[in-house]
Parts: sequence; structure tokens; C-alpha cells
Amino acid sequence: MPRTPHNPWPDLPHTQHPALIVPSLLSVDFYNAAPQIEAVLAAGAHVLHMDIMDGHFVPNLSMGVPVVEKIRRSTEAALDVHLMVTNPGQFIEPFAQAGADSLTFHIEACDDIDQARRLIEQIRTRGLGVGVTLKPTTPLAAIDAILPDVDLVLMMTVEPGFGGQPFLDSQLPKLRELRGIMQPHQRLEVDGGIVPETAARCRAAGADCFVAGNFIFGGPNPAEAVAALRAAVG
Ligand code: DX5
Ligand code: ZN
Repeated sequence: MPRTPHNPWPDLPHTQHPALIVPSLLSVDFYNAAPQIEAVLAAGAHVLHMDIMDGHFVPNLSMGVPVVEKIRRSTEAALDVHLMVTNPGQFIEPFAQAGADSLTFHIEACDDIDQARRLIEQIRTRGLGVGVTLKPTTPLAAIDAILPDVDLVLMMTVEPGFGGQPFLDSQLPKLRELRGIMQPHQRLEVDGGIVPETAARCRAAGADCFVAGNFIFGGPNPAEAVAALRAAVG
């Protein structure tokens, strides 16, 4: 029987949102993925982030549908799939079938706002969480018209394409402004250069979901890293 997707973004006012720690599998050791995933989930992460890069929208390649399928078979945890691809509409159905629970597309990959609306509808119809994301230099005005229709906004805090880059301080005022215009139930996720110190600053600016790759999987103890992030964001 096909699995029913589980939208991982709880419909609560953001003041009641528990902060979610979202490990990015871009940095996991794929030869040793299962125990590392178990360890981060046991340490209190609830959602796993998967970065899909096509070598075109961003200058790097990462993983595709078969990898999401394999991870899906190995865990019940919610999968937050970040599409860094040209033509995102082409990939909604394959990733939904592979077991994604939420799909986030880049506004820069849309020709116009109507295309963004169609993507939202396509993802919503599949029963998945709907996220939109923007690159660091993209103004908030680019997502204004669709903001009420998404469950989550992913604010990139590095230029997308590579793990392990330094956090861009320039995104903090933008984050604060965005939280101010979002509905209380909507999630605000940050991605790129997240360590306890930057996570705490993003939390203070209104973020409630914290994607971290290198900090969690790049060190010797992923579970301790999750605990350190959780302690930083409360
Ligand atoms: C970057 C990806 C991120 C990446 C973050 O393009 O979207 O999800 O894994 O990695 P760190 O935490 O290493 O900056
Ligand atoms: Zn990402």
C-alpha cells in the first residue's frame, strides 16, 4: 500500500512552535547513513532535509529520486526535500512517489508567479507540506503574492549549492522582516552555515526550523551536535 505523506509542519501559532532541528543529509556519510540517522533522530531531530541539486540551477550535483526512495525505506522520519532544480514541476510527482513529506521549490526557478501558484497546487494536491525558498540576494517581494499559500518559507543563509559555507549575516534583518509578514502558523526555516551561535541569532529573528549539515554530520558526534543546536534555540 502506498504510504500516506505526513506534512511535518504543525499548524500551530509560531509562538507555540517547538523549534525543529533538521539535519541535512547532504553531509551524512552515505556508507554509514543508517546509524547516523538513527542517532540524530534519537537525539531529538524529527525531520530530515534532503538537498536535490541538478548541476544547472546550482553549480553542483547531489542526490535524486532513488536516494530519497532508499532513505524513505530506512526511516519513518519526515523528509523535507529542498529542490535546487530548474523545472521543479517536473519533479513533484517523482519525489512525492519516492516518499517526500514536504517539497520546497525555489522562487527563482519559476518563470512567473502563476507557475509558482501551479507548483503550490500540485504539491498541496499530493498531500505534502509546501515550502518556497529564496536565495540570499532575492528580495522578499518575490514571494509576497504566494506567501499566504505556503506552509513554510526556507530562507537560504548561504548561496545554495554547497554545504559547509559560512553563514551570511546579511540575512538576519530579512529574516526578521519576513517573520513580521508571515501568518502565525507558518514555519520559517533557515539553511546554510547553521551552528549553535548562528541558530540562536536566527531564532531571535523568528526562525523555527534549523537545517544543519556540516555541523551535525561533519563532526565526530552527530547526536551531540543535535543536542547543542537544540540547547541554542530552546
Ligand atoms: C546548501 C544546502 C544546505 C546544506 C547546508 O545548498 O541547501 O541544506 O546542506 O549545509 P551546512 O549546514 O553545511 O551549511
Ligand atoms: Zn537545503
